[in-house]
Amino acid sequence: MGFIDMHSHVLPNMDDGSHSDEQSLEMLRIAYDEGTDVIYATPHNMPGKGRPSPEQVYAAVDRLQNLADDAGIPIQILPGTEYYFREEVMDIFEEDRAIPFGDSEYVLVEFDPMAERNYIRNSLRDIRGTNYIPVLAHIERYVKAMEDMEFVEGLQKLGVLIQVNAASVTGDNGWKAKADTKKLLKRHLVDFIGTDAHNNSSRAPKMAKCADILYKKYGSEYAEELLFGNAEYYFMKGSDGQ
Ligand SMILES: [Fe+2]
Repeated sequence: MGFIDMHSHVLPNMDDGSHSDEQSLEMLRIAYDEGTDVIYATPHNMPGKGRPSPEQVYAAVDRLQNLADDAGIPIQILPGTEYYFREEVMDIFEEDRAIPFGDSEYVLVEFDPMAERNYIRNSLRDIRGTNYIPVLAHIERYVKAMEDMEFVEGLQKLGVLIQVNAASVTGDNGWKAKADTKKLLKRHLVDFIGTDAHNNSSRAPKMAKCADILYKKYGSEYAEELLFGNAEYYFMKGSDGQ
């Protein structure tokens, strides 16, 4: 079973991620070589970085899938969006206009790195009151959240799912991100891994080193949930007839 990358900026010319078809294809080649066979394209919806419409995202996913097929890269690209939380985003959720992961009701949501715990919790609770369920992007990045593991447990109890970046597991995002990610993983507070890839060099879609660490340190059962099992369970229900 290949990995499912939950978080990437692989669509060309949508945000601060890939800036050409060639770069997107190179990113997909890297992802496939790393053992990934499904990649969610989650362009930013954030002032200053872009806010593509559902039509634009779905069309760009189809287009990139065709390019990948023509190039012989056996990887599936699925739609999503990374919403930077703000009032405008709440309107989108309340009016059922979001771009969830594939055909699911789950949406990827990020906050400012310095966001207060109350703000994060209340915002996520508000999203739970809509028809969508939030997946919190790269939780290890939120300084205040990382000061309090009980707070993170509280989010889990609210029904929020939690993603960390592969480079935080490996230490490639620095020692603090690695230490915080370890605290989360030890408590089984993480649901998904994403690469948050933006390019084919410094922020490439690399999963293999992270996967090795997860299997060795946390066992194959949890590693497989994080690397593909949970994504299949939550986002692809029914897609294989189950
Ligand atoms: Fe991202």
